[in-house]
Amino acid sequence: MLEFDPFDESYFDDPFSVYKRLRDESRAYYHEELDCYFLSRFEDIWEAVGSGHFSHRKGTNTQDLLAGKPPNLALSSMTPPDHTALRRTFWPFFSPGFTRGIESFVRGHARAFIDEAIEKGHVDANGELGRRISVRVAFKLIGLPEHDADRVAGLVGLVFDRSPQVKGPNQRALDAQAELHGYLLEKIHERQKTPGEGGLLDSLIAYRFEGKSLPEDQLLSNIYLLVVGGTETLPKVFAGGVYQLYKHPDQRAELVRDLSLAKDAFWEMLRYEMPTLMLGACAEEETEIGGGTKIAVGQKIMHLWVSANRDEREFDDPDRFDIHRKAPRILTFNNGRHRCLGAHIAQMEGRVLLEELLTRAPEFDVDEAGAVRIRSEFFRGFDRLPIVFGKA
Ligand code: HEM
Repeated sequence: MLEFDPFDESYFDDPFSVYKRLRDESRAYYHEELDCYFLSRFEDIWEAVGSGHFSHRKGTNTQDLLAGKPPNLALSSMTPPDHTALRRTFWPFFSPGFTRGIESFVRGHARAFIDEAIEKGHVDANGELGRRISVRVAFKLIGLPEHDADRVAGLVGLVFDRSPQVKGPNQRALDAQAELHGYLLEKIHERQKTPGEGGLLDSLIAYRFEGKSLPEDQLLSNIYLLVVGGTETLPKVFAGGVYQLYKHPDQRAELVRDLSLAKDAFWEMLRYEMPTLMLGACAEEETEIGGGTKIAVGQKIMHLWVSANRDEREFDDPDRFDIHRKAPRILTFNNGRHRCLGAHIAQMEGRVLLEELLTRAPEFDVDEAGAVRIRSEFFRGFDRLPIVFGKA
């Protein structure tokens, strides 16, 4: 009989075979102790997130929704009409126009960091390249000072740290979370006294809904969501994607010859290397999931994104990495009310990083022995992926 436990470390190294069994044998798997259904097929998750029958009021992740911690107070846990109104305030900093406007900023930094790395001979694609870019982008749209970006990138790299046998974040992760909270709170206080130059933090301080402003804990939660959510995912997709190019030299050579393929290549990397294993919701009405399983109001469900993106019912030969695939839809950014606001930005960041890496160092190598993979119930991918330059 199929038994699935998201906290059981035995499947962290290879979740794919477990997910395949879930899709085939138990498309709406019920875990009694966690009182949660796990959806694993693409279509079932697509339908659930798009249905409007679920909310994030009990949280979304393995710590709040599954382990019972109160959810954060950020946009990602809100419900309409508050969610709709606040999301409107976020939007100007995530639109395609805003994204185009910061592309040269991203490219300038990508060039500088890659040139620096070539000079040094090696770089960690996750922590020293992707994360340094994505934290700068989050800082730019929030309106935080760039000179703090690398210190904060270091903290963000620790907030999901895990140790074997410790369920959830370890002490290092909790310390990093506390330090990051302290830093962001200090910036909020400064900006409340003296407004900045019109970044998202200024908009959130000025925001009013039904005459009320956002309390301090909600301001903090939203900025934390942006710094962490916007910074931790992109570098992992990039590192995973770089690794796939290293493993598929023909596809890498094609990309080097024709960089106009970088956009589609990064889209495939987003499908293939989705780092977030699961996020979920709870039912707001009696409904059905997974092709006929009836669930009651308040029932928790989890979306196994990584499984959905490898579902053979949606993708031909899903375990094949193929930069020409051009999948019409993927489940990397959610597709409902909480669809990722950073989707345009993330795609631009990934494309620009690929273009600059393949222009400046098309022959890069990967030090597989130095690579470190994440082992956690929440994230997969590389914690460290050393790229090596100049080995003739
Ligand atoms: C490859 C990179 C990224 C991935 C895989 C990703 C994934 C996601 C997912 C799956 C959600 C939905 C969360 C849920 O269902 O509970 C989400 C929401 C969100 N993401 Fe991203 N994200 C990425 C990049 C970014 C970036 C760069 C930013 C900002 C700079 C960002 C900001 C947000 C925000 C604000 C939300 C909340 C939207 C809402 O609740 O209405 N994301 N993201």
